[in-house]
Amino acid sequence: MQTFHTISGLREALAGERAKGYRIGLVPTMGNLHDAHLELINIARQNCDVVVCSIFVNALQFGLNEDWDKYPRTIADDTRKLTSAGCDYLFHPADIEMYPNGLATQTRVVCPTMTDVLCGASRPGHFEGVTTVVTKLFNIVQPDEAVFGIKDFQQLAVIRRMAEDLCMGVKITAAPIHRETDGLAMSSRNGYITAPERPGVAVLYTTLQWIAQCIREGRQDFAALEVDGGKRIEAAGFRVDYVAVCNSKTLEPAALDDREITVLGAMYTSAARLIDNLSLTLEDRG
Ligand code: PAF
Repeated sequence: MQTFHTISGLREALAGERAKGYRIGLVPTMGNLHDAHLELINIARQNCDVVVCSIFVNALQFGLNEDWDKYPRTIADDTRKLTSAGCDYLFHPADIEMYPNGLATQTRVVCPTMTDVLCGASRPGHFEGVTTVVTKLFNIVQPDEAVFGIKDFQQLAVIRRMAEDLCMGVKITAAPIHRETDGLAMSSRNGYITAPERPGVAVLYTTLQWIAQCIREGRQDFAALEVDGGKRIEAAGFRVDYVAVCNSKTLEPAALDDREITVLGAMYTSAARLIDNLSLTLEDRG
């Protein structure tokens, strides 16, 4: 695997690959790689001839009181994992390479719908930071395909919408959620969960499963299910950010005739904010 820290170096290498007619896959990450990331690399490997992984802890998507400065940076370990996973290129730019004019005056990409609800409600500006950096990465790499995890369901939906709205010509591929044996979705932030809290955090997923099962059995009182879901999480000792039953494409509150539904949740442990989701397709209830 070759590592590049500069946009020009990576572009030159990829121009050579493109000239050979190779299909280029991109896996954007912020590093601290775990098995779920390596599965994204694996999917890109299967679908493309050349795989590029980016590792960049993007300050633009972190709020003032969020964990940008303490976000784990584990580049040596990540490089080893990417090499064994068969990644061809690592793009690991410094902040100045990605934002040479600073953050304050950086041109932004705004997706006006879907970004101020759910995670966006408690993380103002977060998705604008994501869409901006992902657009930059798409412009730098010009991938044929980019792979994102379904765990960040809202991020995936927003990126799909952005790519469609801006005619980006890149295929967006979704990779399934990787879970620990008790159902906890794998995340770089799971490292912040304390040992005493760890057994209880699976409540987020079991709550989403319970809501999904109620809906499959015919319940249509989505708002009441959201409230009851929140109470289950609180009863396990965690603060709820949101529990929501949404239309899978628009992320608007699910309507009674929606068939593609996603149940999403976010909760706080003492030092982490955890998110999860579960999608279901309903048969026509006729
Ligand atoms: O999901 C992430 O790790 C980040 O939001 C992404 C897509 C790499 C953009 O910084």
